[in-house]
Amino acid sequence: MAASYKIAVLPGDGTGPEVVAEALKVLKAAGKKYDVKFNFTEFNWGGENYKATGIVLPEDGIETLKKYDSILLGAIGHPDVKPGILEKGLLLALRFGLDHYINLRPVKLYPGVATPIRDKGPEDIDFVVVRENTEGLYAGAGGNLKKGTPDEVAIQTSINTRKGVERCVRYAFDYCRKRDKRKTLTLVAKTNVLTYASDLWERTFHEVGKKDYPDIKREYAHVDATCMWMVKNPEWFDVIVVENMFGDIITDLGAMVQGGMGIAAGGNINPQGVSMYEPIGGSAPKYTGKGVINPLAAISAAQMMVLDLGLEKMAHDIEQAVMWACANKIKNLGAGKMGYSTSEVGDLIAGKIDG
Ligand code: IPM
Ligand code: MN
Repeated sequence: MAASYKIAVLPGDGTGPEVVAEALKVLKAAGKKYDVKFNFTEFNWGGENYKATGIVLPEDGIETLKKYDSILLGAIGHPDVKPGILEKGLLLALRFGLDHYINLRPVKLYPGVATPIRDKGPEDIDFVVVRENTEGLYAGAGGNLKKGTPDEVAIQTSINTRKGVERCVRYAFDYCRKRDKRKTLTLVAKTNVLTYASDLWERTFHEVGKKDYPDIKREYAHVDATCMWMVKNPEWFDVIVVENMFGDIITDLGAMVQGGMGIAAGGNINPQGVSMYEPIGGSAPKYTGKGVINPLAAISAAQMMVLDLGLEKMAHDIEQAVMWACANKIKNLGAGKMGYSTSEVGDLIAGKIDG
């Protein structure tokens, strides 16, 4: 009997539905080849639904999603909805509700893709960022006083727990070991200023590493210097582990280094639960409905998903097809510059997997 997986699909806002459609096309082609059945169930959560119903995430939303094997997300963000409502009410609510304590972001330059960094090639740009995804400034601790007055005070506190830090650090060590490349894990923090939070990260990192991962080399870089090294010497990085806010920032830089948002994918991962994969580029409202947005990031998100489902050959095939398209077909990853429409890119990848 064919293996089967229940996949919850959240196309979301803007160009999300367009790129997700192509990812589903690729998954169907790959499923056919490997005799794997994907049962997709769509949820219309996002800006449009919020405008129509006032509901961001239904009350039983998290419990509903827990019944699936995995989740594929398009994009969250709507120009007519005040910033923060969908981001916090939907995206962060899903990440927190499903305890996606890892945000995994590979930064890998495929042959044929132009990086803005002159003189660096695919052999130099291949690292993975493991971003803590449930704590730090994102935990939402804080408040304000005297709002709107000249005496206003705003406090936003970064929450870092030993448990939260340790499970993230352990995931990163395990990932680095499994990846088996340079066996080097770099902690990115700001130990020279954040002498409480970064200190907890640093102690946990070395304690855990020394005791349980003696085969993995430990390195440290300040977050500001990391921005410099990611551009100057990206080949220094193998796997990076980083707290939430710093991770948010450096992974956008990572996306540019690997060729842009058109190719950058990420996973919100709960290794013991239901994970959620997404192109990291956002909803790009100005391109909505034009058929010009690049679906390779969404397709790569689907590739990360099937890899975590244990479908290694299928994941390999999808990645090879994406690499083939980058090297031989798509000349520019930018929206409207691919030389193909969104659905033609999906056809290329699906066709390559079939053929
Ligand atoms: C990301 C995004 C989100 C984040 C936003 C949309 C809340 O930028 O996935 O990196 O900050 O985590
Ligand atoms: Mn971000």
